[in-house]
Amino acid sequence: MPHPAVAPEPRAPPPPPGPTPHRTAGGDNGTVTWSDTPDAPEPSGSPETPGSPGSPVLAGLPGLPGLPGLSGLSGLRPRLPSPVQEVVDERFERYGVRLVLKRDDLIHPELIGNKWRKLAPGLAAAGGRTVVTFGGAYSNHLRATAAAGRLLGLRTVGVVRGHELRDRPLNDSLARCAADGMRLHFVERSVYRRKTEPGTLAAVLRDAGAGEDAYVVPEGGSNALAVRGCRALGEELTGVADVAAVACGTGGTLAGMAAGLAPGARALGVPVLKGGFLHREVEALQTAAFGGPAGDWSLDDRFHFGGYARTTPELDAFAADFEQRHGVPVERLYVAKVLYALVALAEEGAFRRGSTVAAVVTGRPFPEAPGR
Ligand SMILES: Cc1ncc(COP(=O)(O)O)c(C=O)c1O
Repeated sequence: MPHPAVAPEPRAPPPPPGPTPHRTAGGDNGTVTWSDTPDAPEPSGSPETPGSPGSPVLAGLPGLPGLPGLSGLSGLRPRLPSPVQEVVDERFERYGVRLVLKRDDLIHPELIGNKWRKLAPGLAAAGGRTVVTFGGAYSNHLRATAAAGRLLGLRTVGVVRGHELRDRPLNDSLARCAADGMRLHFVERSVYRRKTEPGTLAAVLRDAGAGEDAYVVPEGGSNALAVRGCRALGEELTGVADVAAVACGTGGTLAGMAAGLAPGARALGVPVLKGGFLHREVEALQTAAFGGPAGDWSLDDRFHFGGYARTTPELDAFAADFEQRHGVPVERLYVAKVLYALVALAEEGAFRRGSTVAAVVTGRPFPEAPGR
């Protein structure tokens, strides 16, 4: 499908009041084109729980059709569909394979990548209530939720794994959350692990001062609404790619994207956590979102590089080299791993000659995140 060429630099919404926004799109090079399709855990060392669709607090969410609250969100001017960037890379060309980057990192300067797709439906459903969510000390999801709170005038509470962090200076990621107005509530790791149990959740909400009618977004943002929000990612890739690859934490983005792909296209997930538990989780998320399995998807568990937030000199060198070759900032904890996986798979002959592979750029580097 042809992509009408447009100005290469993304339109960023005007900077919001408050702290300096995350690094914006300026400085990228390479040719960015728009796809012409219709608009359509947080992990931190341990496997994440992909939401709890059965939780009473999450029950009774409105269905996606209509989503009245989304009109308020459109004031944030997301760049949708996100651009598709062609990259010329001999590591694919030599096998007759085309690589494109689905630049979800350009959707919004603060609700970056899959964060927009996953959070937007939930923020609409929150209907102005306090939004409570969960994450580790470097959680991209917490930062995105805090930014959304500031941009939309919503109160946000972040439940942070690690009670011991309470008495330490905030790292850059949590400091950004706090500066965006998020109230941080630190909990013991053992409590955090049980946060989807109704009794524990109720106690945590009470201790966090979240209020009775708080709207709970699960860790990593992956619930049924979020997964349905990610379906548009797959739809936007119709006619663009034969294989669409995405890095997985909770698996919510993969679950939604796979459901949106056209018949004949397949989705590939690259888990960044060790453990091999994700297949089940993706199935559960698809069942919660769509009533059952959806789309053609698979996981390749070989590219976690030791687990969440782990990296190796080889991966770092790969990411730095990719940035240099293509002028695209490579987020190290997720995006570097999926790009590395695709190069390795091309070499293994996993992609048919003449096919197009899309790598979803789900995030941008945050200055102080580990691995940077
Ligand atoms: C940059 C980035 N890419 C990919 C993912 C994985 O998303 P998911 O948890 O939906 O698998 C995350 C986690 O939220 C992320 O922060």
